[in-house]
Amino acid sequence: MKHQYKNMTIIVKNDYDNMGKKAARILAAQVTIKPNSILGLATGSTPEGMYKKLVKMYQKDEVDFSEVTTFNLDEYYPINASNKQSYAYYMQQHFFKYVNVKDEAINIPNSSMKDINLICENYEEKIRATGGIDLQILGIGNNGHIGFNEPDVHFESETHLVTLDEATIKANARFFDKSQNVPKLAISMGIRTIMQTKKIVLLASGANKAQIICDTITGVITPKVPASILQLHQDVVFILDKEAASKVMDRINH
Ligand code: GLP
Repeated sequence: MKHQYKNMTIIVKNDYDNMGKKAARILAAQVTIKPNSILGLATGSTPEGMYKKLVKMYQKDEVDFSEVTTFNLDEYYPINASNKQSYAYYMQQHFFKYVNVKDEAINIPNSSMKDINLICENYEEKIRATGGIDLQILGIGNNGHIGFNEPDVHFESETHLVTLDEATIKANARFFDKSQNVPKLAISMGIRTIMQTKKIVLLASGANKAQIICDTITGVITPKVPASILQLHQDVVFILDKEAASKVMDRINH
């Protein structure tokens, strides 16, 4: 089901699987229409199904990534790309090793470098030099973060170093042996970087995302809910499963 709320499109799918398929079809369509698309990619559990479907589509010759350039949203800091918890490793395991994105067209903040300002400035500059991101995939944290832009973020931020919220460290502890091992810092595209992308597709699944999705779409626009700024983006699509959509649909329909 497709709904329109203010300038936002909300697509509700029956389950996680169909949410991922829909997102994959949108991304594949983008690449078909513009083979040299600049793609903004996300990590986390939520987009895994989308990557799986994209790999299948690639294997069936339904999509070709040979001309795309990719920019990932964020990366822990410091971390080596070979570390299994790094987002660089995640991207290889879930997507890049199966498809034909060129190695030199893959961009993920280089968190093994010492000079943070240089990493951030280079990243931002590189995005700008491509002419900007055509399609940005986003997940959302339980606290409303997008990328690693935690509550109370400055909306005008570009790629920057972030101190992770306690809530985020807790949520991401499932990927590490113990929560003490979750890095306390990360490098993330800023809210301004995200808002400058031409099209945004945000994915959310599960009942634990229902409240934050409702706040994001229908609440006040505030740095306390970083994703709420998306209400001001000119082309944003939320793809939700039924559980994640439950509260926002109640609010919109009453
Ligand atoms: C992580 C990532 C975000 C992601 C979010 C939700 O910390 N930095 O980019 O969207 O948390 O993750 P998940 O999809 O696993 O719920």
